[in-house]
Amino acid sequence: MTKWLSGYYEENIIYAAEIIKSGGLVAFPTETVYGLGANALDKIAVAKIFEVKNRPDFDPLIVHISKKEDIFLYAENVSEDVKKLIDIFWPGPLTVVLPKKDVIPDIVTAGLKTIALRMPKNSIALKLISYSKVPIAAPSANPFGYISPTSAFQVAETLNKKIDCILDGGKCEFGLESTVLAFQEDGIFLLRPGALEIEKIEKVINKTIKIYSGNQINSPGQLKKHYSPHKKTILIYPEQSLNKQQKDSKLLQKLQNLKDKVHDLQKIFLLLPSKDIIDNYQEILQMNFGKIDYFSENFDLRVIASSLFEKLYLADKSDMHFIVIVGIEKQGLGISIMNRLEKAAEEKI
Ligand code: TXA
Ligand code: MG
Repeated sequence: MTKWLSGYYEENIIYAAEIIKSGGLVAFPTETVYGLGANALDKIAVAKIFEVKNRPDFDPLIVHISKKEDIFLYAENVSEDVKKLIDIFWPGPLTVVLPKKDVIPDIVTAGLKTIALRMPKNSIALKLISYSKVPIAAPSANPFGYISPTSAFQVAETLNKKIDCILDGGKCEFGLESTVLAFQEDGIFLLRPGALEIEKIEKVINKTIKIYSGNQINSPGQLKKHYSPHKKTILIYPEQSLNKQQKDSKLLQKLQNLKDKVHDLQKIFLLLPSKDIIDNYQEILQMNFGKIDYFSENFDLRVIASSLFEKLYLADKSDMHFIVIVGIEKQGLGISIMNRLEKAAEEKI
């Protein structure tokens, strides 16, 4: 049985920490998404994560710590840049990939010689780690490839009965996973854009982050399809280099053209970046989409990021047959948001 406990009570966190110590699995809130945690030093416990998530064994896990200095227990070659970054951005949505120390079992890192580490900015998560007295390996708490959970409810719906405990800490603040950076001899590489913007990272170290394009590093950040709803999902790209009016009329045209693909717009769940699009274009309402929802009231990247997975999940659970998402420009957090949407959608127009 899965125990669903409020993470706001100290005794529940202590209880969950006991589960971690004894080799069980606990879903817990972080500021990004819910994690599915196990003792990172216990091979069998970590194997359970792969089993429950149906996660391929080539896909390494992030290890969560509750004190910055613990980075030295599990990683080698912690450079000045890393120190500067964790000084400023930890606790927070930044994951650093560094050469690993032997105490971390190979199963955690999928056999890689590197380890991904992060200190989450959520008091329930931090207490869980420190009461457990071990580092906690945790991927997002969803079946592999499916939409990441940003509420305890979403975890319960997809992993119920398969895990020992869910610590409920309400909705996640960011709603989008951490930014993953690899520190290598030949530079600093972005493995997954995430809740911390690259521009902010570059400013602190005064270096350019390179985009990783090789394939020696396994990162679902690198898989083409991920974070995907079960329903057929179509992403509409914003038009580049047109003025606002041209862009808007192009969008209306693309929405109109969906009829050729889907025949019945009544079967579509339309997700818009913000409500003001409908306010400005009543034509969208007249097209008779089955359902319409939006990620934010007024266009706000933080709000869009934080509601992204939740809205996708609700659209996937609805009685519509298709999900159509209107995308945004790839700037700032928009890069991470579009990264998730491009992987979620099987078709882009
Ligand atoms: O915000 C987050 O990062 C959330 C919360 C729970 O902390 N966790 C999360 O974990 O998103 P997961 O497993 O869904 O994604 C971890 C990412 C994957 O892209 C994985 O391949 C990459 O980190 N990763 C982990 N260890 C790595 C390593 N040693 N080298 C390269 N990539 C690594
Ligand atoms: Mg994930």
